[in-house]
Amino acid sequence: MNASATETATTEEIRLAPNQPLKDLDDWDDFLEGRYKEGKTEEEFRVYDATATPGVAEFYKQNHENMTVAYTLAKEEEYFTLRKGQKTIWEAAEFLNTLVDDSDPDTDLTQIEHLLQTSEAMRRDGMPRWMILTGFIHDLGKCLCLYGEPQWGVVGDTFPVGCAWSKDIVFHEYFANNPDRHVAEYQTKYGIYEPNCGLENLHMSFGHDGYIMKVMKPYLQDESLYMLGFHSFYPWHKHGAYDHFCNDKDRSMLDWVLKFNQYDLYSKGHTKPNMAELKPYYDDLFAEFLPPTLAW
Ligand SMILES: [Fe+2]
Ligand SMILES: [Fe+2]
Repeated sequence: MNASATETATTEEIRLAPNQPLKDLDDWDDFLEGRYKEGKTEEEFRVYDATATPGVAEFYKQNHENMTVAYTLAKEEEYFTLRKGQKTIWEAAEFLNTLVDDSDPDTDLTQIEHLLQTSEAMRRDGMPRWMILTGFIHDLGKCLCLYGEPQWGVVGDTFPVGCAWSKDIVFHEYFANNPDRHVAEYQTKYGIYEPNCGLENLHMSFGHDGYIMKVMKPYLQDESLYMLGFHSFYPWHKHGAYDHFCNDKDRSMLDWVLKFNQYDLYSKGHTKPNMAELKPYYDDLFAEFLPPTLAW
């Protein structure tokens, strides 16, 4: 993964963390697609884990060993205060597009094209306009990589920190070397939280979900914010873990998150969306729900 400058990016200081285990940030998405392919048996899951590409395994090792309460709180302070400047949605998407992967540029789609595939699949199925918008913006938080955040702090399945790690978190064994293992309070079922406190009151492992939810919080409805904020919370929405933190609102939002997940996992293809043709539709869509520029 390297950064190539575009017009938008020239004004931005782009920093990339060195020596990252994933050749391409999308390798994680591909891993998820394989892991959660419909109809897969439990046995196939285990085979898949054991033979996962070394890059993905190393990525999860780094994530599980470094994602502590202290790290998460520090990153929340740094990014949830939205001090990275004002950008329109198109500018944010162009900025994310400067994240160029090392795979074949002829067959692979750009980040914007991936976003459009998700939203266009929703549009074809007649989903509500707020959801189509959500489809387009849901991965814009991956720009954290361009601010120098390591891959393990941007993508990966999310989970609450400060309480016992669920056995449903993939590559659970890598938590053995997480320093929070030695904090007794963090190892209990409820940890630093109250029973049924609501997912919104948890400190989720830091990544692109939490960041984009924070950016969009003033403008979008709860269904959309849940899709943004918890789309990588696979232990919850795919495995039913952490129900002891859920309240009625969380449970009523679960169906929407699952509906969203179908598009996130399965809308990838290799047909390039026609940007020029689609732009007017998205200009209207952004204007309907969002101000011209947003704080990032
Ligand atoms: Fe995502
Ligand atoms: Fe996605």
